[in-house]
Amino acid sequence: MITLAVETSCDETALCLYSEEGIVGEVLLSQEIHSQYGGVVPELSAREHTKNLPILLDLLLKRTNFNLKDIDFISFTLTPGLILSLVVGVSFAKALAYTLKKPLVPVHHIEGHIFSVFLEEEVEFPFLSLVISGGHTEIYKVLDFGNYELLGQTLDDAVGECFDKVGRLFGIPYPAGPKIEEVAKRGNPNLKVPKPRVKGLNFSFSGLKTYFKKLKEEGVSKEDALASFQRVVVEFLYEKVERAMELTKIRRVCLVGGVSANSYLREFFLRKSKEEGFELFIPSRKYSTDNAVMIAICGLERFRRGYRASYLINAVPNVPLPEFEEFLKKFKSG
Ligand code: KG4
Ligand code: ZN
Repeated sequence: MITLAVETSCDETALCLYSEEGIVGEVLLSQEIHSQYGGVVPELSAREHTKNLPILLDLLLKRTNFNLKDIDFISFTLTPGLILSLVVGVSFAKALAYTLKKPLVPVHHIEGHIFSVFLEEEVEFPFLSLVISGGHTEIYKVLDFGNYELLGQTLDDAVGECFDKVGRLFGIPYPAGPKIEEVAKRGNPNLKVPKPRVKGLNFSFSGLKTYFKKLKEEGVSKEDALASFQRVVVEFLYEKVERAMELTKIRRVCLVGGVSANSYLREFFLRKSKEEGFELFIPSRKYSTDNAVMIAICGLERFRRGYRASYLINAVPNVPLPEFEEFLKKFKSG
């Protein structure tokens, strides 16, 4: 069984060929055009996807020496994301499905991140998944594939968005996360910074952004500010994960999404997992950020469970993950 997976929810155009044995081949293009604007420009993103998808597919087929006719079905990101960008990927997937007469299998982008860890190892259900990306900061209880309970979420900015905004304050272009990590290595992480205070398992990051704006105006060095910012964010995230483990009595935790590529965060959680005795799973850095492999993993599982979508299915800006299975029932083919 082999699937072609299509991911275009934001500023990465990604395709992959994936079988039950693993990755056959993959291509990924991170759109650089947005760095000059300080963030993703939706219309430009959609235009870049439209331009690049056929070129990338051609490259993938040449590299793998694979005949497109031999795929069994097409997996694609249906939601959530920038609607224009999603529409491009969904249309591309539908056109291929129509031409090749192959089934269509939709995937939720967050579900993709959650199952990105399965590329390298199977995680026993139930587990907790902290989704930390440019658009999302959420903690889920994952009971099974397709069965997700939202335990908490950000009340304002996403954590990756906060990395990008604080980075921008200190002159770092979008996406600032990877560069902040580098700069932070040279700074003092122990500046006094008030940790965000939010009830339950929810998160908030907008106060931090305002606090660092003030520190910048007071003349604090970029290195010290960013090292302290990174420390406070990671401690705050850990505090919530610790609370979620207490409340659910589940001691299996996955960290997924772009921010989970951060080395300081990975080392911090790894140390805690050893000290406190819980299981920790983090995808390799390459699969923390957006990619098509995570979409293929979920597509394959949904296909195995018998789901095929009708041509009526269309991109949606945001279907909450716990409602996704119910939403899909309306578009089941046959
Ligand atoms: O998961 P992702 O690729 O796209 C979304 O679904 O949003 O996440 C992108 C986010 C950006 O905000 C980026 O700054 C952040 O992940 N990011 C990082 C690192 N690498 C990417 N943040 C902190 N440290 C990193 N090494
Ligand atoms: Zn993502």
